[in-house]
Amino acid sequence: MEHRSIKFIDKLRQEMKEELLVQLAKSILYEQALVKIDGEFVGAVASIPQNKNSQDLNYNEIFIRDNVPVMIYLLLEGRFEIVRHFLNTCLRLQSDHFQTRGIFPTSFVEVEGKLIADYGQRAIGRVCSVDASLWWVILAYIYVQRSGDRQWAITSEVQIGIQKFLNLILHPSFRDAPTLFVPDGAFMIDRVLDVWGNPLEIQALLYGALLSAVGLIQMDLDDKGCTEKQAKEDLRDPENALIGQQIFRKSYAIAWIKKLRSYMLKHYWVNSKIVQTIRRRPTEQYGDRVTNEYNIQTETIPHWLQEWLGDKGGYLIGNVRTGRPDFRFFTLGNCLSATFDLISSTQQRSLFHLMYQNRADLFAQMPLRICHPPLQNEDWRKKTGFDRKNLPWCYHNAGHWPCLFWFFVMATLRHKQRQSSVDNLAIDLLLQDNYEILSKRLPREHWAEYFDGPNGVWVGQQARLYQTWTIVSFLLTHHFLKVNPADVNIMDLPSLKDIKNA
Ligand code: GLC
Repeated sequence: MEHRSIKFIDKLRQEMKEELLVQLAKSILYEQALVKIDGEFVGAVASIPQNKNSQDLNYNEIFIRDNVPVMIYLLLEGRFEIVRHFLNTCLRLQSDHFQTRGIFPTSFVEVEGKLIADYGQRAIGRVCSVDASLWWVILAYIYVQRSGDRQWAITSEVQIGIQKFLNLILHPSFRDAPTLFVPDGAFMIDRVLDVWGNPLEIQALLYGALLSAVGLIQMDLDDKGCTEKQAKEDLRDPENALIGQQIFRKSYAIAWIKKLRSYMLKHYWVNSKIVQTIRRRPTEQYGDRVTNEYNIQTETIPHWLQEWLGDKGGYLIGNVRTGRPDFRFFTLGNCLSATFDLISSTQQRSLFHLMYQNRADLFAQMPLRICHPPLQNEDWRKKTGFDRKNLPWCYHNAGHWPCLFWFFVMATLRHKQRQSSVDNLAIDLLLQDNYEILSKRLPREHWAEYFDGPNGVWVGQQARLYQTWTIVSFLLTHHFLKVNPADVNIMDLPSLKDIKNA
């Protein structure tokens, strides 16, 4: 009896501690990270300045990418007005310049009453964040689904914004592949790390963004009661130019989505069997029926893959480029591909198996590692241009980022809810153990931005403290694991089946 009551008191104490921690994280978010524009909350700074007098590079700005978890959390909290204000502010900043028409800024800030946006022209290395534009459309769709605010979706501002976005993405180019070709550092990894070309994260986001765009256009067409027959007439009527564009780009986008998915599954997905097949393919083939389209030589396939894949693991590789595939494992792109159902449910299972099997590398002492393995020695020197922030096992070059953990939670819980027959015990334990690591380490280490070293034990050498997406990743993890797992449906996008039927 006495033993039972001690256990009960311990549990109670634990719950109170957890509740206090959640309240602390929430108060930092609401009272310090969120900022106002036009008198209303609009989004959060990347990190909370520790010294009032120092301007901490651009971490005082509102990054679209860093605000993705913030906005998802605010939606769960029912703070729809903030999310709407954020989306509208980004929309106001969508570029209208000839060369960049349609792109959304990486970040923005208010200076003396004026909004200043960064499209890459102020960033170190002048990189433009392609992911920001893709995320805006996805967030817009998620906002409408969660808040039910279809009136916002059908405003001409939103619909024209989507058209400008699609116009930017769906245009003729010098390649036949449906992937989006980008320069180095065009996403969360916003420095040189040999991620130019067709990096996975951009392709997964492209898939999600196109699905979302189609979903948002469909809402407007439904509202206008637009039928197939009438649509054909509208296409010829200059008065109805917007409807014409919507119908044309919607069908173009659907075709693109289908092509993108089969391309990704064919060229990016690997497991042990596939690697053994590609290792034995002939090279120097010419024509349209060849097996080795990208002329990949066996020597490009790294040896670490054998053990990493094991016999049940599978994942999407980091990049596909002629003769130079990138076999590194990129965490965010893989988690997003599962969440957006770019990969099938069987493939999702192989992915989670692979991540579980390699947990010593990917989770270690701080979940999650951004990519694996790091570029080292000559590769580091040549491919990063001696980037001291991206030393091996540091920062983007295989450092550990707590802001990534909730994406894994999201992907695995979504999968679990759809595939109830699967034995999830191992994954459940992995989620629980890592949630505890976050709860213990993050407040103690001042919600650091990232962690270094092969195990993620050390706070990143140049890590900011009180990094907003670190704090919100903890809050989201807590929400999905402890408060309401069913809420993972917040990231459900229109399915390929739905849009085909529309
Ligand atoms: C760093 C990260 C980038 C992030 C920014 C603000 O530049 O690489 O992904 O958006 O900091 O936190």
